[in-house]
Amino acid sequence: MKDLLAVQEQYQDYPYPLRDPEEETQRLLQVVGGQLPELNHWLYRGKENFKSGFRVLVAGGGTGDASTFLGEQLKNTNAEIVYLDFSFASMEIAQKRAEVRGLKNITWIHDSILNIPKLNLGKFDFINCSGVLHHLASPDEGLQILSDSLSICGGMNLMIYAKYGRAGVYQIQHLMKVINSDVNSMAEEIENCKAIVEILPATNWYTKSQDFIADHILFGDIGLYDLFLHKQDRAYSIPEMYEFVSKADLHFVHFTSPKQRLELEIEKYIKDTDLLRQIKQLDIRVQQAISELIVGTVVKHDFYVSKVKDTVADLACLTNVPYFYPETDLATQIYNFIDNGQVSIGQELKFKLNCRYVQDVDINIHVSKYTKYIFKNMIEGSKSLQEIFDAIRKEFKWNILDAVLINECKIIFTQFFKIGILFLRDKSIAAYKECI
Ligand SMILES: C[S@@+](CC[C@H](N)C(=O)[O-])C[C@H]1O[C@@H](n2cnc3c(N)ncnc32)[C@H](O)[C@@H]1O
Repeated sequence: MKDLLAVQEQYQDYPYPLRDPEEETQRLLQVVGGQLPELNHWLYRGKENFKSGFRVLVAGGGTGDASTFLGEQLKNTNAEIVYLDFSFASMEIAQKRAEVRGLKNITWIHDSILNIPKLNLGKFDFINCSGVLHHLASPDEGLQILSDSLSICGGMNLMIYAKYGRAGVYQIQHLMKVINSDVNSMAEEIENCKAIVEILPATNWYTKSQDFIADHILFGDIGLYDLFLHKQDRAYSIPEMYEFVSKADLHFVHFTSPKQRLELEIEKYIKDTDLLRQIKQLDIRVQQAISELIVGTVVKHDFYVSKVKDTVADLACLTNVPYFYPETDLATQIYNFIDNGQVSIGQELKFKLNCRYVQDVDINIHVSKYTKYIFKNMIEGSKSLQEIFDAIRKEFKWNILDAVLINECKIIFTQFFKIGILFLRDKSIAAYKECI
Protein backbone atom coordinates (compact mmCIF):
# COMPACT_ATOMS: atom_id res chain seq x y z
CA MET A 1 0.00 0.00 0.00
CA LYS A 2 2.85 2.37 0.92
CA ASP A 3 4.45 1.70 -2.47
CA LEU A 4 1.15 2.11 -4.32
CA LEU A 5 0.77 5.58 -2.79
CA ALA A 6 4.39 6.41 -3.61
CA VAL A 7 3.79 5.47 -7.26
CA GLN A 8 0.58 7.51 -7.37
CA GLU A 9 2.37 10.49 -5.83
CA GLN A 10 5.18 10.23 -8.37
CA TYR A 11 2.83 10.33 -11.35
CA GLN A 12 0.76 13.06 -9.73
CA ASP A 13 3.84 15.29 -9.35
CA TYR A 14 5.68 14.08 -12.45
CA PRO A 15 3.14 13.06 -15.13
CA TYR A 16 4.83 10.71 -17.54
CA PRO A 17 5.64 10.96 -20.38
CA LEU A 18 6.14 14.71 -20.69
CA ARG A 19 3.63 15.98 -23.27
CA ASP A 20 2.50 19.44 -24.37
CA PRO A 21 -1.18 19.38 -25.44
CA GLU A 22 -0.59 22.24 -27.87
CA GLU A 23 1.59 19.94 -29.96
CA GLU A 24 -1.61 18.15 -31.00
CA THR A 25 -2.10 20.93 -33.52
CA GLN A 26 1.20 19.93 -35.17
CA ARG A 27 1.32 16.13 -35.21
CA LEU A 28 -0.34 12.88 -34.12
CA LEU A 29 1.98 10.71 -32.03
CA GLN A 30 1.87 7.10 -33.22
CA VAL A 31 1.71 4.37 -30.60
CA VAL A 32 3.67 1.29 -31.64
CA GLY A 33 1.21 -1.52 -32.31
CA GLY A 34 -1.81 0.77 -32.03
CA GLN A 35 -2.73 1.33 -35.68
CA LEU A 36 -6.13 -0.11 -36.60
CA PRO A 37 -4.67 -2.11 -39.53
CA GLU A 38 -2.26 -3.76 -37.09
CA LEU A 39 -4.90 -4.49 -34.46
CA ASN A 40 -7.24 -5.96 -37.02
CA HIS A 41 -4.53 -8.12 -38.58
CA TRP A 42 -2.93 -9.48 -35.40
CA LEU A 43 -5.84 -9.65 -32.98
CA TYR A 44 -9.07 -10.06 -34.96
CA ARG A 45 -8.16 -12.24 -37.96
CA GLY A 46 -8.71 -9.23 -40.25
CA LYS A 47 -12.47 -9.30 -39.57
CA GLU A 48 -12.92 -6.33 -37.20
CA ASN A 49 -14.51 -3.23 -38.77
CA PHE A 50 -14.37 -1.18 -35.53
CA LYS A 51 -17.87 0.03 -36.28
CA SER A 52 -20.04 -2.24 -34.14
CA GLY A 53 -19.68 -0.64 -30.72
CA PHE A 54 -15.99 -1.50 -30.35
CA ARG A 55 -14.87 -0.88 -26.74
CA VAL A 56 -11.36 0.12 -25.73
CA LEU A 57 -9.78 0.45 -22.29
CA VAL A 58 -6.55 2.39 -21.88
CA ALA A 59 -5.40 1.20 -18.47
CA GLY A 60 -2.85 3.54 -16.86
CA GLY A 61 -3.35 5.95 -19.76
CA GLY A 62 -0.77 8.46 -18.46
CA THR A 63 -0.57 11.71 -20.40
CA GLY A 64 -2.68 10.30 -23.19
CA ASP A 65 -0.56 8.84 -26.00
CA ALA A 66 -2.77 5.79 -26.57
CA SER A 67 -6.12 7.47 -25.80
CA THR A 68 -5.27 10.25 -28.26
CA PHE A 69 -4.05 7.92 -31.00
CA LEU A 70 -6.95 5.48 -30.68
CA GLY A 71 -9.47 8.29 -30.14
CA GLU A 72 -8.34 9.96 -33.35
CA GLN A 73 -8.45 6.77 -35.42
CA LEU A 74 -11.86 5.77 -34.09
CA LYS A 75 -13.48 9.20 -34.08
CA ASN A 76 -15.81 8.50 -37.00
CA THR A 77 -17.12 5.25 -35.51
CA ASN A 78 -19.37 4.45 -32.56
CA ALA A 79 -16.41 3.03 -30.63
CA GLU A 80 -15.94 4.02 -27.01
CA ILE A 81 -12.55 4.59 -25.40
CA VAL A 82 -12.29 4.42 -21.63
CA TYR A 83 -9.20 6.08 -20.20
CA LEU A 84 -8.26 5.14 -16.63
CA ASP A 85 -5.38 6.38 -14.49
CA PHE A 86 -4.89 7.16 -10.81
CA SER A 87 -2.80 10.26 -11.52
CA PHE A 88 -5.18 13.19 -11.86
CA ALA A 89 -2.42 15.42 -13.25
CA SER A 90 -1.70 12.91 -16.03
CA MET A 91 -5.40 12.61 -16.83
CA GLU A 92 -5.72 16.38 -17.13
CA ILE A 93 -2.95 16.46 -19.74
CA ALA A 94 -4.57 13.57 -21.63
CA GLN A 95 -7.94 15.37 -21.51
CA LYS A 96 -6.41 18.57 -22.80
CA ARG A 97 -4.86 16.70 -25.72
CA ALA A 98 -8.24 15.20 -26.60
CA GLU A 99 -9.83 18.63 -26.32
CA VAL A 100 -7.29 20.22 -28.67
CA ARG A 101 -8.12 17.50 -31.21
CA GLY A 102 -11.87 17.79 -30.63
CA LEU A 103 -12.19 14.14 -29.57
CA LYS A 104 -15.53 13.32 -27.97
CA ASN A 105 -15.26 9.53 -27.84
CA ILE A 106 -13.23 9.16 -24.61
CA THR A 107 -14.66 8.49 -21.12
CA TRP A 108 -12.37 9.62 -18.33
CA ILE A 109 -11.93 7.65 -15.11
CA HIS A 110 -9.67 8.74 -12.28
CA ASP A 111 -9.10 5.50 -10.41
CA SER A 112 -6.81 2.57 -9.85
CA ILE A 113 -6.59 -0.52 -12.05
CA LEU A 114 -7.04 -2.51 -8.85
CA ASN A 115 -10.54 -1.05 -8.49
CA ILE A 116 -11.70 -2.09 -11.98
CA PRO A 117 -13.67 -5.10 -10.65
CA LYS A 118 -15.79 -2.67 -8.59
CA LEU A 119 -16.33 -0.06 -11.31
CA ASN A 120 -18.83 -1.91 -13.54
CA LEU A 121 -17.09 -0.84 -16.72
CA GLY A 122 -18.29 -3.84 -18.74
CA LYS A 123 -16.12 -5.87 -21.11
CA PHE A 124 -13.61 -4.49 -23.60
CA ASP A 125 -12.64 -5.63 -27.09
CA PHE A 126 -9.21 -4.08 -26.79
CA ILE A 127 -7.05 -3.01 -23.86
CA ASN A 128 -3.89 -0.96 -24.08
CA CYS A 129 -1.71 -1.12 -20.98
CA SER A 130 1.75 0.17 -21.63
CA GLY A 131 4.43 0.69 -19.01
CA VAL A 132 2.05 0.18 -16.09
CA LEU A 133 1.81 -3.41 -14.83
CA HIS A 134 5.49 -3.59 -13.82
CA HIS A 135 4.76 -0.74 -11.37
CA LEU A 136 2.12 -2.69 -9.41
CA ALA A 137 2.97 -4.57 -6.21
CA SER A 138 1.44 -7.59 -7.92
CA PRO A 139 1.64 -7.34 -11.72
CA ASP A 140 -0.03 -10.78 -11.82
CA GLU A 141 -3.08 -9.43 -10.04
CA GLY A 142 -3.18 -6.42 -12.37
CA LEU A 143 -2.98 -8.55 -15.50
CA GLN A 144 -5.65 -10.94 -14.21
CA ILE A 145 -7.97 -7.97 -13.65
CA LEU A 146 -7.39 -6.82 -17.23
CA SER A 147 -7.78 -10.34 -18.59
CA ASP A 148 -11.12 -10.63 -16.79
CA SER A 149 -12.19 -7.33 -18.37
CA LEU A 150 -11.76 -8.59 -21.93
CA SER A 151 -14.66 -9.66 -24.11
CA ILE A 152 -14.66 -13.29 -25.34
CA CYS A 153 -12.47 -12.53 -28.37
CA GLY A 154 -10.77 -9.48 -26.90
CA GLY A 155 -7.09 -8.67 -27.20
CA MET A 156 -4.52 -6.43 -25.56
CA ASN A 157 -1.36 -4.57 -26.31
CA LEU A 158 0.92 -4.74 -23.28
CA MET A 159 4.30 -3.27 -22.58
CA ILE A 160 6.43 -4.43 -19.68
CA TYR A 161 10.09 -3.72 -18.97
CA ALA A 162 12.75 -6.15 -20.13
CA LYS A 163 15.30 -7.39 -17.64
CA TYR A 164 18.73 -7.51 -19.26
CA GLY A 165 18.61 -4.26 -21.25
CA ARG A 166 17.71 -2.41 -18.05
CA ALA A 167 20.37 -4.03 -15.86
CA GLY A 168 22.32 -0.76 -15.61
CA VAL A 169 19.16 1.17 -14.71
CA TYR A 170 18.48 -1.14 -11.76
CA GLN A 171 22.00 -0.60 -10.48
CA ILE A 172 21.38 3.16 -10.43
CA GLN A 173 17.96 2.65 -8.78
CA HIS A 174 19.68 0.57 -6.09
CA LEU A 175 22.42 3.17 -5.68
CA MET A 176 19.89 5.99 -5.35
CA LYS A 177 17.87 4.07 -2.74
CA VAL A 178 21.01 3.88 -0.63
CA ILE A 179 21.96 7.53 -1.16
CA ASN A 180 18.40 8.83 -0.67
CA SER A 181 17.49 6.59 2.25
CA ASP A 182 16.98 9.58 4.58
CA VAL A 183 15.63 11.96 1.96
CA ASN A 184 11.92 12.78 2.06
CA SER A 185 11.35 15.19 -0.81
CA MET A 186 11.21 14.17 -4.47
CA ALA A 187 12.99 17.39 -5.46
CA GLU A 188 15.94 16.49 -3.23
CA GLU A 189 15.99 12.91 -4.52
CA ILE A 190 16.22 14.36 -8.03
CA GLU A 191 19.06 16.73 -7.15
CA ASN A 192 21.09 13.88 -5.64
CA CYS A 193 20.39 11.69 -8.64
CA LYS A 194 21.51 14.40 -11.07
CA ALA A 195 24.76 14.77 -9.15
CA ILE A 196 25.34 11.03 -9.44
CA VAL A 197 24.40 10.70 -13.11
CA GLU A 198 26.83 13.51 -13.94
CA ILE A 199 29.82 11.74 -12.45
CA LEU A 200 29.18 8.20 -13.69
CA PRO A 201 32.39 6.88 -15.22
CA ALA A 202 32.51 5.10 -18.59
CA THR A 203 32.88 1.81 -16.72
CA ASN A 204 29.48 2.15 -15.04
CA TRP A 205 26.95 -0.36 -16.29
CA TYR A 206 24.30 2.31 -16.95
CA THR A 207 26.78 4.50 -18.86
CA LYS A 208 27.20 1.58 -21.23
CA SER A 209 23.45 1.46 -21.86
CA GLN A 210 22.63 5.17 -22.12
CA ASP A 211 22.62 5.08 -25.92
CA PHE A 212 19.43 3.03 -25.86
CA ILE A 213 17.79 4.14 -22.61
CA ALA A 214 17.88 7.80 -21.61
CA ASP A 215 14.46 9.02 -20.42
CA HIS A 216 16.14 11.74 -18.29
CA ILE A 217 17.52 13.29 -21.48
CA LEU A 218 14.20 12.91 -23.35
CA PHE A 219 11.88 14.09 -20.56
CA GLY A 220 14.05 15.99 -18.00
CA ASP A 221 13.17 15.53 -14.30
CA ILE A 222 10.02 13.54 -15.16
CA GLY A 223 12.10 11.03 -17.09
CA LEU A 224 14.86 11.00 -14.50
CA TYR A 225 12.45 10.15 -11.69
CA ASP A 226 10.73 7.47 -13.73
CA LEU A 227 14.00 5.85 -14.74
CA PHE A 228 16.19 6.05 -11.64
CA LEU A 229 14.01 6.88 -8.64
CA HIS A 230 10.91 4.75 -9.12
CA LYS A 231 9.60 3.12 -5.94
CA GLN A 232 7.99 0.13 -7.63
CA ASP A 233 9.63 -1.22 -10.75
CA ARG A 234 10.39 -4.72 -11.99
CA ALA A 235 11.35 -6.25 -15.30
CA TYR A 236 10.89 -9.53 -17.15
CA SER A 237 13.09 -11.85 -19.15
CA ILE A 238 11.40 -13.43 -22.16
CA PRO A 239 10.62 -16.72 -20.35
CA GLU A 240 9.20 -14.71 -17.42
CA MET A 241 7.10 -12.65 -19.83
CA TYR A 242 5.57 -15.80 -21.36
CA GLU A 243 4.81 -17.18 -17.91
CA PHE A 244 3.25 -13.87 -16.84
CA VAL A 245 0.89 -14.00 -19.83
CA SER A 246 -0.17 -17.62 -19.51
CA LYS A 247 -0.85 -17.32 -15.76
CA ALA A 248 -3.54 -14.75 -16.61
CA ASP A 249 -5.33 -17.13 -19.05
CA LEU A 250 -4.04 -15.23 -22.06
CA HIS A 251 -2.44 -16.31 -25.32
CA PHE A 252 0.68 -14.57 -26.53
CA VAL A 253 0.15 -13.42 -30.13
CA HIS A 254 3.22 -11.55 -31.34
CA PHE A 255 5.69 -8.84 -30.42
CA THR A 256 4.22 -5.50 -31.42
CA SER A 257 7.35 -3.66 -32.37
CA PRO A 258 8.93 -4.54 -35.73
CA LYS A 259 12.29 -3.59 -34.23
CA GLN A 260 11.93 -6.14 -31.45
CA ARG A 261 10.72 -8.82 -33.88
CA LEU A 262 13.94 -8.40 -35.87
CA GLU A 263 16.10 -8.08 -32.77
CA LEU A 264 14.93 -11.45 -31.47
CA GLU A 265 15.71 -13.44 -34.61
CA ILE A 266 18.48 -15.85 -33.79
CA GLU A 267 19.80 -15.84 -37.40
CA LYS A 268 20.91 -12.29 -36.82
CA TYR A 269 23.54 -13.45 -34.36
CA ILE A 270 24.48 -17.09 -34.90
CA LYS A 271 26.47 -17.55 -38.09
CA ASP A 272 27.91 -21.00 -37.37
CA THR A 273 25.61 -23.28 -39.38
CA ASP A 274 25.79 -26.29 -37.06
CA LEU A 275 25.08 -24.20 -33.96
CA LEU A 276 22.29 -22.36 -35.76
CA ARG A 277 20.68 -25.65 -36.83
CA GLN A 278 20.88 -26.88 -33.24
CA ILE A 279 19.30 -23.71 -31.82
CA LYS A 280 16.63 -23.59 -34.54
CA GLN A 281 15.37 -26.95 -33.29
CA LEU A 282 14.47 -25.37 -29.97
CA ASP A 283 11.08 -23.87 -29.24
CA ILE A 284 10.76 -20.37 -30.76
CA ARG A 285 10.39 -18.93 -27.25
CA VAL A 286 13.72 -20.39 -26.21
CA GLN A 287 15.31 -19.02 -29.38
CA GLN A 288 14.00 -15.57 -28.48
CA ALA A 289 15.29 -15.93 -24.93
CA ILE A 290 18.73 -16.75 -26.33
CA SER A 291 18.60 -13.71 -28.65
CA GLU A 292 17.60 -11.46 -25.77
CA LEU A 293 20.62 -12.62 -23.78
CA ILE A 294 22.95 -12.26 -26.75
CA VAL A 295 21.89 -8.78 -27.87
CA GLY A 296 21.61 -7.31 -24.37
CA THR A 297 19.82 -4.13 -25.50
CA VAL A 298 16.15 -5.15 -25.29
CA VAL A 299 14.71 -2.67 -22.77
CA LYS A 300 11.02 -3.48 -23.08
CA HIS A 301 8.66 -6.18 -24.27
CA ASP A 302 5.80 -4.77 -26.28
CA PHE A 303 3.34 -7.43 -27.40
CA TYR A 304 -0.20 -8.50 -28.22
CA VAL A 305 -2.10 -11.07 -26.19
CA SER A 306 -5.57 -12.45 -26.68
CA LYS A 307 -8.28 -14.32 -24.84
CA VAL A 308 -8.45 -16.79 -27.74
CA LYS A 309 -5.96 -18.67 -29.89
CA ASP A 310 -5.35 -18.12 -33.61
CA THR A 311 -6.15 -14.44 -33.85
CA VAL A 312 -3.80 -13.57 -36.71
CA ALA A 313 -5.32 -12.94 -40.16
CA ASP A 314 -4.61 -15.89 -42.39
CA LEU A 315 -3.53 -16.15 -46.02
CA ALA A 316 -5.63 -19.31 -46.29
CA CYS A 317 -8.75 -17.18 -45.84
CA LEU A 318 -9.25 -16.00 -49.41
CA THR A 319 -11.67 -13.17 -48.59
CA ASN A 320 -8.73 -11.33 -47.03
CA VAL A 321 -7.19 -8.38 -48.89
CA PRO A 322 -3.39 -8.02 -48.64
CA TYR A 323 -2.39 -4.35 -48.54
CA PHE A 324 0.67 -2.28 -47.80
CA TYR A 325 0.21 0.39 -45.14
CA PRO A 326 1.21 3.17 -44.93
CA GLU A 327 3.81 2.56 -47.70
CA THR A 328 1.06 2.23 -50.26
CA ASP A 329 3.15 2.41 -53.46
CA LEU A 330 5.45 -0.51 -52.65
CA ALA A 331 3.40 -2.98 -54.72
CA THR A 332 3.68 -0.64 -57.73
CA GLN A 333 7.44 -0.28 -57.28
CA ILE A 334 8.03 -4.03 -57.01
CA TYR A 335 5.73 -4.75 -59.96
CA ASN A 336 7.50 -2.14 -62.13
CA PHE A 337 10.89 -3.47 -61.18
CA ILE A 338 10.03 -6.99 -62.31
CA ASP A 339 7.99 -5.83 -65.31
CA ASN A 340 10.90 -3.69 -66.58
CA GLY A 341 13.03 -6.82 -66.68
CA GLN A 342 15.43 -5.58 -63.97
CA VAL A 343 15.17 -9.00 -62.40
CA SER A 344 14.26 -12.27 -64.15
CA ILE A 345 12.28 -15.32 -63.14
CA GLY A 346 14.38 -17.58 -60.93
CA GLN A 347 16.46 -14.67 -59.61
CA GLU A 348 16.31 -12.89 -56.27
CA LEU A 349 15.04 -9.34 -56.05
CA LYS A 350 17.06 -7.82 -53.20
CA PHE A 351 16.77 -4.33 -51.81
CA LYS A 352 16.98 -2.35 -48.57
CA LEU A 353 13.83 -0.83 -47.16
CA ASN A 354 13.36 2.05 -44.75
CA CYS A 355 10.01 2.17 -43.06
CA ARG A 356 8.45 3.85 -40.05
CA TYR A 357 9.80 1.60 -37.33
CA VAL A 358 12.85 -0.04 -38.87
CA GLN A 359 15.56 1.12 -41.22
CA ASP A 360 17.82 -0.58 -43.69
CA VAL A 361 15.89 -3.85 -43.68
CA ASP A 362 17.01 -6.46 -46.20
CA ILE A 363 14.16 -7.57 -48.45
CA ASN A 364 14.67 -10.66 -50.54
CA ILE A 365 12.03 -11.83 -53.00
CA HIS A 366 12.56 -15.00 -54.97
CA VAL A 367 10.94 -14.13 -58.31
CA SER A 368 8.76 -16.88 -59.75
CA LYS A 369 6.53 -16.68 -62.78
CA TYR A 370 3.66 -15.58 -60.52
CA THR A 371 5.45 -12.90 -58.44
CA LYS A 372 4.90 -10.03 -60.86
CA TYR A 373 1.16 -10.74 -61.03
CA ILE A 374 0.78 -10.98 -57.29
CA PHE A 375 2.16 -7.44 -56.90
CA LYS A 376 0.31 -6.16 -60.00
CA ASN A 377 -2.97 -7.19 -58.42
CA MET A 378 -2.05 -5.68 -55.06
CA ILE A 379 -1.55 -2.19 -56.46
CA GLU A 380 -5.13 -1.01 -55.82
CA GLY A 381 -4.99 -2.47 -52.30
CA SER A 382 -8.59 -3.67 -52.52
CA LYS A 383 -8.48 -7.09 -54.22
CA SER A 384 -9.01 -10.14 -52.07
CA LEU A 385 -6.65 -13.10 -52.32
CA GLN A 386 -9.43 -14.91 -54.19
CA GLU A 387 -9.60 -12.09 -56.75
CA ILE A 388 -5.82 -11.92 -57.04
CA PHE A 389 -5.57 -15.67 -57.59
CA ASP A 390 -8.39 -15.65 -60.16
CA ALA A 391 -6.67 -12.81 -62.04
CA ILE A 392 -3.42 -14.83 -62.10
CA ARG A 393 -5.23 -17.92 -63.40
CA LYS A 394 -6.80 -15.77 -66.13
CA GLU A 395 -3.37 -14.40 -67.09
CA PHE A 396 -1.85 -17.88 -67.36
CA LYS A 397 -4.98 -19.55 -68.72
CA TRP A 398 -4.51 -22.61 -66.56
CA ASN A 399 -5.79 -23.82 -63.25
CA ILE A 400 -3.11 -22.99 -60.70
CA LEU A 401 -4.13 -24.41 -57.32
CA ASP A 402 -4.97 -21.95 -54.52
CA ALA A 403 -2.52 -23.84 -52.30
CA VAL A 404 0.34 -23.08 -54.70
CA LEU A 405 -0.45 -19.36 -54.74
CA ILE A 406 -1.03 -19.22 -50.99
CA ASN A 407 2.38 -20.76 -50.47
CA GLU A 408 3.94 -18.30 -52.92
CA CYS A 409 2.35 -15.37 -51.04
CA LYS A 410 3.45 -16.79 -47.69
CA ILE A 411 7.09 -16.95 -48.77
CA ILE A 412 7.05 -13.36 -50.06
CA PHE A 413 4.75 -11.73 -47.49
CA THR A 414 6.20 -13.04 -44.22
CA GLN A 415 9.07 -10.52 -44.31
CA PHE A 416 6.63 -7.64 -44.89
CA PHE A 417 4.26 -8.75 -42.10
CA LYS A 418 7.25 -8.88 -39.77
CA ILE A 419 8.32 -5.28 -40.37
CA GLY A 420 4.77 -3.99 -39.96
CA ILE A 421 3.99 -2.66 -43.43
CA LEU A 422 1.76 -5.40 -44.88
CA PHE A 423 -1.58 -6.45 -43.42
CA LEU A 424 -4.68 -8.48 -44.23
CA ARG A 425 -8.23 -7.23 -43.84
CA ASP A 426 -11.50 -8.79 -44.89
CA LYS A 427 -12.83 -7.67 -48.26
CA SER A 428 -15.94 -6.25 -46.53
CA ILE A 429 -13.78 -3.70 -44.67
CA ALA A 430 -12.91 -0.40 -46.36
CA ALA A 431 -9.29 0.70 -46.79
CA TYR A 432 -7.85 2.65 -43.86
CA LYS A 433 -6.93 6.28 -44.19
CA GLU A 434 -3.83 7.24 -42.29
CA CYS A 435 -4.57 9.67 -39.43
CA ILE A 436 -2.19 12.59 -38.91
C1 LIG B 1 5.00 5.03 -17.14
S1 LIG B 1 3.43 5.73 -17.16
C2 LIG B 1 2.82 5.13 -18.73
C3 LIG B 1 1.69 5.95 -19.28
C4 LIG B 1 1.10 5.49 -20.59
N1 LIG B 1 0.55 4.14 -20.48
C5 LIG B 1 2.11 5.56 -21.71
O1 LIG B 1 2.54 4.51 -22.20
O2 LIG B 1 2.45 6.66 -22.12
C6 LIG B 1 2.54 4.74 -16.02
C7 LIG B 1 1.12 5.26 -15.77
O3 LIG B 1 0.41 4.24 -15.06
C8 LIG B 1 -0.34 4.86 -14.05
N2 LIG B 1 -0.56 3.85 -13.00
C9 LIG B 1 0.38 3.15 -12.31
N3 LIG B 1 -0.21 2.30 -11.45
C10 LIG B 1 -1.55 2.48 -11.60
C11 LIG B 1 -2.68 1.90 -10.99
N4 LIG B 1 -2.56 0.99 -10.04
N5 LIG B 1 -3.90 2.31 -11.40
C12 LIG B 1 -4.04 3.26 -12.35
N6 LIG B 1 -3.01 3.85 -12.95
C13 LIG B 1 -1.77 3.46 -12.58
C14 LIG B 1 0.49 6.02 -13.60
O4 LIG B 1 -0.27 7.01 -12.94
C15 LIG B 1 1.09 6.49 -14.93
O5 LIG B 1 0.28 7.47 -15.53
